[in-house]
Amino acid sequence: MKNDIKEIIFTEEMIQKRVKELGEELNKEYAGKSLLLIGVLKGCFIFFADLARHIDVDCEIRFLTASSYGFSSVSSGKVNIEKDIDFDVEGKNVLIIEDILDSGITLTALRAFVAKHKPASLKLCTLLDKPDRRQLPITAEYTGFVCPNEFVVGYGLDYGERYRNLPFVGSLKPEIYS
Ligand code: IMP
Ligand code: MG
Repeated sequence: MKNDIKEIIFTEEMIQKRVKELGEELNKEYAGKSLLLIGVLKGCFIFFADLARHIDVDCEIRFLTASSYGFSSVSSGKVNIEKDIDFDVEGKNVLIIEDILDSGITLTALRAFVAKHKPASLKLCTLLDKPDRRQLPITAEYTGFVCPNEFVVGYGLDYGERYRNLPFVGSLKPEIYS
């Protein structure tokens, strides 16, 4: 599996340090409040689990499933949100947690979807941001790292459902996805 990696971009140590810092920022921002964390499956699962353990405010934890990629490294432009929201959002402080903000299509759709349910506040937290690839004008309030414009895997991010278990984020050798 590691033979398919061209370059490690964010090491395990870099990620762990940054995730802890994000948790501390969130603890300050939401001190004395409660949070509804909504993870976007499946890519967020490792980031979410690590980040949640650095958050010390009262949290409700929920997940939504969104997909746009299928078995490809290029966004299909269409976003599937698998089920409607079956939990209360109204009046809550919501933080959507994503693995990567790329074209912005997924988070724009998800944010609008959640906003319809009238949260008290709605912010986005993404581990990685690839601003060069943006097709819709969306920014996350919390970003782990700005990522170079390359297809990356690891720490939850996949290619064809593989590589999610790598503890670092790295680029794939082009021959793997071409
Ligand atoms: P967007 O809708 O283009 O912003 O894409 C967001 C989704 O695409 C993410 O939640 C990821 O699942 C996937 N994605 C975007 N870029 C990458 C990448 O470099 N590696 C793996 N998945 C990616
Ligand atoms: Mg994803």
